Order: sequence, then C-alpha cells, then structure tokens
Amino acid sequence: MKGVILAGGLGTRLFPLTKVTNKHLLPVYDRPMIYYPLKTLVDSGITDILLVTGGTSSGDFLRLLGNGSEFGLKHLNYTFQQGEGGIADALRLAEHFAGKDPILVMLGDNILQNPITEAVDEFHANPTGAKILVTEVEHPEWYGVVELEGEKVARIVEKPKEPRSKLVAIGVYMYDNTVFDLIRQVEPSARGELEITDVNNLYVNQGQMRYHRVEGWWADAGESFPMYLKANMMAASLQGVKPTISEHP
Ligand code: G1P
Repeated sequence: MKGVILAGGLGTRLFPLTKVTNKHLLPVYDRPMIYYPLKTLVDSGITDILLVTGGTSSGDFLRLLGNGSEFGLKHLNYTFQQGEGGIADALRLAEHFAGKDPILVMLGDNILQNPITEAVDEFHANPTGAKILVTEVEHPEWYGVVELEGEKVARIVEKPKEPRSKLVAIGVYMYDNTVFDLIRQVEPSARGELEITDVNNLYVNQGQMRYHRVEGWWADAGESFPMYLKANMMAASLQGVKPTISEHP
C-alpha cells in the first residue's frame, strides 16, 4: 500500500507560529512535527510515500527530509498544493502517484503513540472501499464525529456543535482507488474547502466504510495551542520524559 502525508495549509489555528513556518515543521518536543506521521507510516510497513506540501516554507521539507534516509527510506516523493483548498483538495494531487493502488492518507499534524500495523495489514489484505481510524475523545466537537449504528458507521459529522458520540475520526484514512472519483463529486463546504468528511460519507452511503479503533493516545497537534502543548507532552512521554515546570526533569 502507498502512503500520502498531507502537510500543506496555513495552520491559522497556531498563528503566529505559522506566520513564516509551515505548521508541520514546528517542533513537537525534540523533532519537527512531520517526523511523527512519517515514522508512523514507515513503522506500519509503508515505505512508498508521497508528501504533499504547500503554503509557507514548503521548500524546507526537501532540506529537512531529503530522500527520507533518516527513516530508512531510499526515496521520498513530493508534490506541491497551490492555495489552500482543504484536505480532499490536497489528496487530489496524489492521483497520479496512487495509480491503481490503495492508499493510506495521514494528516501531517497527527501524532500517534503506536504504529497502526494491524489496521494497515487488514486493509492491505482486503483493499476495497475505505477505512477510518477512530478513538474516543473528551471534546468530539473539535473533530469529525463518527456515529455508529450497531457495528456500522452510520455517518460522520464534521465538528458538530452538539456531538452525538464521543468517537471521532482521526487523521488517518485508507482508500481504494475510487477515492479520486469520489473527490470529484464533493462540493466546497461553508469554509470553502473540500472536506475529507464529505468524501468519507460517500463511502458510508455506499456501505463501504469500515473503522478500526486505535490503541494508545492520539493528538491533533494543529487543532489549537492547548492541543499543540498536549502533543508536545505526549511526544516527550514517548521518550520517558515527564515535563514539569517545578524542576528540571
Ligand atoms: C480534520 C478533519 C476531521 C478530523 C481531524 C483529525 O480536521 O476534517 O474530521 O477529525 O482532521 O485531525 P481539521 O484539522 O482539518 O480541522
């Protein structure tokens, strides 16, 4: 399976940190944010990877990552998103790269405690339709909220004011190669973006959406400053460091 990491956008929720720096290059504990999704993909067995950048300082990704040798890769693919049309718009740029293969898409600001090998292997063995990764959170209203009916996904609602479930879709999605046709059916949302949730709901309506609960913690480091801080603390804990303000660790 091929992997696509989306690292464009303006990162306005972390402004002014993102005024001159692409959000995905900001530090998360001791390394740039983009290192985390890249490592998650490689640790889950995905080594054919396309990085979609855009916006500010996109050229810096090349200097930082090169051909991905730090991650054990021989080669890394890059493409550039013109403007900020949303996640599904960025994904369109992966059509040529994907060819007929299924893809795993990961948002460049998502940080996971554990690799996702089991979910990847399952989709790889049965690469039809789509699969989302889900987890329960305290504030589902900040994310794409997943409503289940029995064991089936009934719908996904993007940032509802009154969420009907605590289960949310994290920024990891697996698709068969019909995803590019489905993106062409989606219209821009109220915020003027092609929403990945609208694409996912097309799969839901076709009865082609599966889900998998992630194990361990998850953070969307670009959601807000408190979540960015939390992501830093979680990343520190990955290395056995417990941040404290009272004394040096
Ligand atoms: C996006 C998706 C949302 C998902 C989240 C995960 O939100 O639209 O459904 O739950 O990523 O990180 P955004 O961060 O673009 O607001």
